[in-house]
Amino acid sequence: MRELEVKKDFTNIYTRKFPNSYLKEMKRLEYRIPDKTKPLYLSIAKQLYNKLSKKISVIDIGSSYGINSALMKYDLTMSDLDDFFLKEPSIEQSKQFFEQLPSDDSLDFYQIDISQPALRFSENVNLCKKGICVNLETGNLPLRELPKSDMVIATGCIGYIGYKAFSNIFELIKKQNSEENLENPNRDPVFAFSVLRIFDMTEIKKTFDHYGYSLVKSDVHPIRQRRFSDLEEKHKTISLLNDNGIDTKWLEDDGYFYADFYIASPKKLENQLVIMSKDLKRHARN
Ligand SMILES: C[S@@+](CC[C@H](N)C(=O)[O-])C[C@H]1O[C@@H](n2cnc3c(N)ncnc32)[C@H](O)[C@@H]1O
Repeated sequence: MRELEVKKDFTNIYTRKFPNSYLKEMKRLEYRIPDKTKPLYLSIAKQLYNKLSKKISVIDIGSSYGINSALMKYDLTMSDLDDFFLKEPSIEQSKQFFEQLPSDDSLDFYQIDISQPALRFSENVNLCKKGICVNLETGNLPLRELPKSDMVIATGCIGYIGYKAFSNIFELIKKQNSEENLENPNRDPVFAFSVLRIFDMTEIKKTFDHYGYSLVKSDVHPIRQRRFSDLEEKHKTISLLNDNGIDTKWLEDDGYFYADFYIASPKKLENQLVIMSKDLKRHARN
């Protein structure tokens, strides 16, 4: 996949016991997209909460150490996480850090990632109810360990995971529905996720369509993901985008990756999608 070849590989910092190295490198590269996707996810979660009048179960895929949960449940920023975690606190101190903060108890997080150490950290500091370690591209999701979710989110990980990961999740939803004898699109989750502009969405779109979902690119202005790690990454990215007829002026040309924000819901609830999409623009921070 040419898109993945242009990007720097960070596998070694995804799999440490503590998030320090991950946060340090992300700070260096100004990876701040979770601060930008936070208000978008929260606006959707709030609408779901108002509609369903119950706690919202969020599945965060490619969740790593639980950054989305830390930001959304505890109203933190990436820079708050840096200030605390770059001092290399123990697991006990990390747990206490979150315990003493006010939390949004309308959200329950479940995480899926290929990195067991990152998931274990998140579970140990109570950023998630459960972390499922699976290769989303190849593995099967355990039916009994995940609840029926209201919302599936993903920040910064499309590309590592693609249409096979989404098929995997849709198959899980199908099994959950058939076990519960449930055929109610109101109970199927909304999806919301960021995708770097270099990635081709054709197969992912086909997958959503196949499973009865409408997937739309929201009107939110492309979101800055992170700085290019070097000139080679910049040049390769820009030439890939330009070869695909995508204009990089005012965006990647300035030295940063940019991502689009997508949302999806069952086709039968397309009106919900339109309302959510409009609301997102009000909440976008650029
Ligand atoms: C760029 S990080 C994003 C982490 C987090 N969402 C954030 O914004 O801080 C990508 C994550 O995807 C995970 N990942 C990569 N390939 C995967 C796969 N095949 N299945 C599940 N997770 C995967 C990595 O372990 C890593 O935690």
